[in-house]
Amino acid sequence: MKQKKDSKDYIKYINEALDAMHYPDQPRGLYDPIKYTMQCGGKRLRPMLLLAVADVLGLKPEHAVKQALGIEMFHNFTLLHDDVMDRADMRRGNPTVHVKWNEATAILSGDAMLTMASQLMSDCPDGKLKEVMAMFNKTAMEIYEGQQYDMDFETRDDVTVAEYMEMIRLKTSVLLGCACAIGAMLAHADTSVVKAFYNYGLSLGLAFQLQDDLLDTYGDPSVFGKKIGGDILNDKKTFLLITALERADASQRGEIESLYGQRSDEKVARVKAIYDSLNVGDICRKHISAYIADAISHLDTINLSGDAREFFVELAESSSDRKS
Ligand code: IPE
Ligand code: IPE
Ligand code: MG
Ligand code: MG
Ligand code: MG
Repeated sequence: MKQKKDSKDYIKYINEALDAMHYPDQPRGLYDPIKYTMQCGGKRLRPMLLLAVADVLGLKPEHAVKQALGIEMFHNFTLLHDDVMDRADMRRGNPTVHVKWNEATAILSGDAMLTMASQLMSDCPDGKLKEVMAMFNKTAMEIYEGQQYDMDFETRDDVTVAEYMEMIRLKTSVLLGCACAIGAMLAHADTSVVKAFYNYGLSLGLAFQLQDDLLDTYGDPSVFGKKIGGDILNDKKTFLLITALERADASQRGEIESLYGQRSDEKVARVKAIYDSLNVGDICRKHISAYIADAISHLDTINLSGDAREFFVELAESSSDRKS
């Protein structure tokens, strides 16, 4: 790779490696949804983090590509199951697997993707295998915990911002931290560097999920690729909803509570109007900026070249103006 790091180069490299992956033909009911999912686009953020960290620490991308593919496969597996759990019809601008096929297919193809992810992840030098798999497995368990909290919170109305932050740390952030950490591990980095990159990914992940919540209400559906308002329909206790409930007067709180359980466009419009009147979008954006600054602060503990540091700073900063 050339000296100045460019996220487009990494994405191109990852997409070419994904396109070159071979899947058995039969049974088609198992493999077609996997191909469909893996070739449907996506930002490829997690494999990019893994490859970029490995690259700036001196490891050639071909020595980390299996793990990069593994982490993207794992991420996509979580999406198949997440879309069943969240009753989501659209992803990356296309029908979700459980809509295009059915729920049983989303479950089983997802299972196969989890196993394929483990196979890819464990295809690494013997000396690194234990450390890499321990990080990967720990992260996977945390994600399941986060996803369970996310669902539990749908039927609770007293979720605090602290509980929400812990939930998104688990369901989303740890995977970004894990991607960075595995990239560093493969490059034989010191424990302190592995940890610093993990913490960078973790803070970036918090900002990333806050932005995802913001886009779920305020995004442009043609760019975001997911249905706008899905979180509101599902009574998800997002940062927006929790903050709105904290700031709402009795009548606004009553209105939000009266809409729980409903699934209509009118509900989305009414809750959004309350968000607007309470400025929760701006509060959310401030939090996003703070977590991005926090992510960047972890880079200062790593001895990086100017170009390498700039790459990770730009990556973090671009997550607050992303639209998809
Ligand atoms: C979606 O992840 C799930 C979240 C953690 C918000 P991405 O926004 O990275 O999805 P793709 O892979 O780019 O489609
Ligand atoms: C997803 O959170 C987290 C995981 C998939 C583990 P969301 O449910 O907010 O993700 P999207 O918005 O469906 O992509
Ligand atoms: Mg979800
Ligand atoms: Mg979802
Ligand atoms: Mg979301």
